[in-house]
Amino acid sequence: MRIRIAHLSDPHFGANLPEVVNALTHDLKELKPDLIILSGDITQRARYNQFTAAEKFVDGLNKFQWAIVPGNHDIPLINIFSRLFTPYRNFKRVFRDLLEKKITIEQVEVFTLNSTSRFRHVQGELNANQIKKIINGIQKKTGVRIACFHHPMDCPKRVDEKNLLRNRDEAMRVFAKTEVDLILGGHIHDPYVSLSGERYPQVQRQSIISVAGTCLSWRTRSGAPNSFNLIDVEVEEHQQPRLIISRYDLQKDFKFTPILVQSFYRDSVQGWIKT
Ligand SMILES: [Fe+2]
Ligand SMILES: [Fe+2]
Repeated sequence: MRIRIAHLSDPHFGANLPEVVNALTHDLKELKPDLIILSGDITQRARYNQFTAAEKFVDGLNKFQWAIVPGNHDIPLINIFSRLFTPYRNFKRVFRDLLEKKITIEQVEVFTLNSTSRFRHVQGELNANQIKKIINGIQKKTGVRIACFHHPMDCPKRVDEKNLLRNRDEAMRVFAKTEVDLILGGHIHDPYVSLSGERYPQVQRQSIISVAGTCLSWRTRSGAPNSFNLIDVEVEEHQQPRLIISRYDLQKDFKFTPILVQSFYRDSVQGWIKT
């Protein structure tokens, strides 16, 4: 059985080109994912009209199931009063959903977590109890668990280490204990897939860490145009699951095209291994 997930991040509505919205909508309709995950920075400044533009985009793909978490740009920056007392008002108005929840599709469990903070506008944090509240028990042997939040657990460039989740070591221990297989994030606009053992050698069970780039915004970085990741999870009875992550970059002809495909399988002792 194959479960297909499109992982989008950082559209930054209010700082995006309309042509790219059309291209992304078209290409997602063709790929027919079972779930679309949007890992935060949905808007540029958490404004009413920016959330309305995001709502229109999500509504245009409403035949697909969505899992959406906020990013630091989705809570007000300048209006301190609303940042402190109603930080998620516009987010909740549009998405009418819980910030943290579990979505199950066949043998795949997806957990959405909120790593933003009304007190620290840029940096993100998750504490162990917050994770355990949503992710509890141990998964079925054949199942695959995915956690999703805005701030990344890994990055390719040293300059971005300040952007990683603040208490990431503690979070990684909980993810290993609760057998989370794939950890999704965004925030740095620099797509990157890695195994957790490189950055977290103290944690024995390896997870896959996948950071998506910015899917729509013109706030791109060199070598990383607009992009998203397509994740195919393959789960079969009596077999270890496989995961294939394909990075789709926007080309000059306004088509998102796969430019890098990485595949992994799960070993019962070590966790995930790259093939
Ligand atoms: Fe962002
Ligand atoms: Fe961000």
